[in-house]
Amino acid sequence: MTHAEIQASTQAPAALPADKELVLRVLPMPADSNANGDVFGGWIMAQVDLAGSVLPSRIAKGRITTVAVNQFVFKQPVSIGDLLSFYATVERVGNTSVTVRVEVYAERNPADVQVVKVTEANLTYVAIDRDGKPRQIPR
Ligand SMILES: CC(C)(COP(=O)(O)OP(=O)(O)OC[C@H]1O[C@@H](n2cnc3c(N)ncnc32)[C@H](O)[C@@H]1OP(=O)(O)O)[C@@H](O)C(=O)NCCC(=O)NCCS
Repeated sequence: MTHAEIQASTQAPAALPADKELVLRVLPMPADSNANGDVFGGWIMAQVDLAGSVLPSRIAKGRITTVAVNQFVFKQPVSIGDLLSFYATVERVGNTSVTVRVEVYAERNPADVQVVKVTEANLTYVAIDRDGKPRQIPR
């Protein structure tokens, strides 16, 4: 395979967003499944919390903590074998907090790839000092 062919065959599908920041890509494992054989929602929530923290952490330039999950929607079940991509956009920067929207897309059926939006969430993170108290977001 030439370098160009390798690049073409490893490119993310065009159906994935190009205007949002990719903050995490992960493949769920069988240990992450629920009693139905789909991926356990609590595992997805943990990944969303991690993915959501990436941009607030850059903005806050230091420690942050999750203060609120304002909204969380599981739009479609996630199957073992789906490749999950987490995209984030900053919705609000306050005095001490940053609110982000996280969208999760599944790539399934690698032989004829299908891209499905599976989850949407909105979370708020607070910049904290050494004592765990809110601190100003640097401007
Ligand atoms: C996050 C924490 C430090 C905030 O302390 P606090 O004294 O409640 O802080 P404040 O009331 O001053 O709020 C701080 C910011 O959070 C925002 N905030 C507080 N509660 C919120 C809520 N329910 N939803 C959205 N934003 C919220 C405030 O609007 C404020 O933002 P701003 O300064 O940008 O306007 C404190 O609540 C805490 O330590 N929580 C536990 C966090 C944690 O352990 N998370 C991990 C999950 S287990």
